[in-house]
Amino acid sequence: MQANSTASTGTDVISKVGDAPASPVKAYNLADLRSLAKDVLPRGLFEFVDRGTEDEHALVSMRAAVAAVHLRPRVLVDVSMRTQATEFFGRPSAMPLAVAPTGAAGLLWFDGEIEVARAARRMGIPFALSTASIVSMERVAAEAGGRLWFQLYMWPDRSMSWELVDRVRKAGYEALIVTVDTAVSPNREYNRHNGFTLPMRINRANAWDVAWHPRWFFKVLLKYMLRSGIPSLENYPESLKKKMSEKPTPVKCDSLNWDDLRELRKRWDGPLLVKGILRSDDAVRARECGADAIIVSNHGGRNLDASIPPFRVLPEILDSVGNRLDVFVDGGFTRGSDIVKAIAMGAKGTFAGRGPLWGVAVDGADGACLALQILRDEIDRVMAYTGSTSLLALDRSLLDIPSSNSSSQAN
Ligand SMILES: Cc1cc2nc3c(=O)[nH]c(=O)nc-3n(C[C@H](O)[C@H](O)[C@H](O)COP(=O)(O)O)c2cc1C
Repeated sequence: MQANSTASTGTDVISKVGDAPASPVKAYNLADLRSLAKDVLPRGLFEFVDRGTEDEHALVSMRAAVAAVHLRPRVLVDVSMRTQATEFFGRPSAMPLAVAPTGAAGLLWFDGEIEVARAARRMGIPFALSTASIVSMERVAAEAGGRLWFQLYMWPDRSMSWELVDRVRKAGYEALIVTVDTAVSPNREYNRHNGFTLPMRINRANAWDVAWHPRWFFKVLLKYMLRSGIPSLENYPESLKKKMSEKPTPVKCDSLNWDDLRELRKRWDGPLLVKGILRSDDAVRARECGADAIIVSNHGGRNLDASIPPFRVLPEILDSVGNRLDVFVDGGFTRGSDIVKAIAMGAKGTFAGRGPLWGVAVDGADGACLALQILRDEIDRVMAYTGSTSLLALDRSLLDIPSSNSSSQAN
């Protein structure tokens, strides 16, 4: 086992890391990065990233479900040599974490997806690019490299999606994540109030907001406009891009079904992950359709506001698919201790959505890297406190799970 390079405590660890330049940003946790991002981003854009949907019950309850579980520390274990290294699909990952796909990350920083992918590469973890990214998959592969996964939103015209899958393969992506929790567009009322759309438009509702954030205007929007005009969704086929530039409405695919997943399995021979599973019977079905992994997720509390929190349903899903499928989870894992809880519950890994986004909004690749370093150092500290020298030592005996966190489901 390798000695852990971050085996000390406190914020000094963050500035001493050997694998990335120290960021001058004064942020000691993800909440600090969030408040710095709030200062620099137009409100419409900040809220697009930060908020949930409708009354934001899903956003609040997904975090509460993680916080409700406590750790039972194990003491008097020699933890001087510890590692959080793991493997995903037979290849090493430096942490039990991947960067979640987040559409429009490129609006937070110029070529933001490339910056976040570089941060993931520096930290030795996978980066997942969204179908709805501002930078094309080919540019991310050429300019960032690293371990790249692609998130697929299927379109009503399946032939367009199969062409996209061919493109993903040609661009050299390792894994495909198909998102299945977005049959229709989410009801994000705050976006309508503040005039935020994708692709972005400057309109009466957001012109002042943009004008009050000159750093973002000059360093992000103006740079895009000088290069190629208003940023668009570069993985979309030209016909869809044109349609959306006339009327910015998300393309819904409410006909997506299990046959599509089977077809996708035939067309993609690399690791296939299904994102947005919240029921054990769906998890079993995803396995039967040939998925290699699922991501237990409620889309960061951004879609169905009455959805069950992912962490609450995780144990039941793990118990039903067991070792037959890798189970990842995301939604509200904002501290290293949250990630440790997920691994102790039995998850293969977690995904981080908003954290790296706050980082990139504040300081590009260095800021995104800082977000990931913070999580890494927090995981390391919690492993030491719980007497865990490797992820193998993390199991449910470390967890105190309240009865409110054990859901039951009628199948
Ligand atoms: C701004 C933003 C955009 C997102 N875009 C996508 C997307 O394009 N595809 C997708 O599958 N999930 C998307 N998600 C959901 C994330 O992949 C992930 O499930 C969620 O952010 C995890 O929760 P966390 O932000 O609390 O870490 C998005 C999330 C955010 C915050």
